[in-house]
Amino acid sequence: MPGVFQLSPDRLAEEIGQAVELGLGGVLLFGIPEHKDKLGSDALSAEGIIPQAIHVAKRASRDFLVITDVCFCEYTDHGQCGVPGDATGRPDVDNDPTLELLAQQSVVHARAGADMVAPSGMMDGMVGAIRAGLDAAGFAHLPIMSYSAKYASSLYGPFRDAAESAPRFGDRRGYQMDPAAASGQALREVELDLAEGADLVMVKPAMAYLDVIRQVHDRWPGVPLAAYNVSGEYSMVKAAAQRGWLDERAVVLECLTAIKRAGADVILTYWAKDVARWLG
Ligand code: PBG
Ligand code: ZN
Repeated sequence: MPGVFQLSPDRLAEEIGQAVELGLGGVLLFGIPEHKDKLGSDALSAEGIIPQAIHVAKRASRDFLVITDVCFCEYTDHGQCGVPGDATGRPDVDNDPTLELLAQQSVVHARAGADMVAPSGMMDGMVGAIRAGLDAAGFAHLPIMSYSAKYASSLYGPFRDAAESAPRFGDRRGYQMDPAAASGQALREVELDLAEGADLVMVKPAMAYLDVIRQVHDRWPGVPLAAYNVSGEYSMVKAAAQRGWLDERAVVLECLTAIKRAGADVILTYWAKDVARWLG
């Protein structure tokens, strides 16, 4: 992805410093360990890539919100979001054994100093399991931002290249939502997550799902709603801008304004630093 890089922990301090200086509110960390394995062991290690990154980020600024991605696809050698299922068929991921691991991963992040966890795997019962795990470990106060309505979108391609996390077998359609499903399904997913204790809910991707953002916002006006402006949305505009076909700044501000108008309270975007510069 143009302008997006994997950073080693020693380079992270500078990046966070810039973000703080630009007035950004926080960062969402994705971990890419040196070694991936079948179970994604680095995700459960107190010395893993994310605990290291949290320490660096918190040292750079105590007030800067550090949110961590909670999922296994960046850590497993097969690229699935959890414990691999029976290789002969569906499901690609064994849901229930994955829940306990997601809870453990969340506790590792909490102990390292994360301010919020963001489970992105769309497992059934994910938020409830993480809430119970955090509460039992003494982190009842730690908020959960759930990827509640996450579609099995073709717009995640550039992220998977960047994170080296494309699934080696199967796909993610067993747990992510069908992009062609009626929007009622998204509302049911959000409702379940809220019942399990989600503090913020998310719709992802953003641009192609503005109707879903609007409906979630209208149904739960008091619940903080995040929208993830994903890698494919970013890359399409970047590519066109590089060819001189689009005015990047104007298009980005127009699109992000549309996401906000649809009802998002929080926007996750690869343009965050650019926008801060343009508006600052
Ligand atoms: C993994 C994860 C993905 C993204 C965020 N977390 C990829 C996927 O589900 O395949 C995509 C982000 C983006 O495209 O910007 N759980
Ligand atoms: Zn995943």
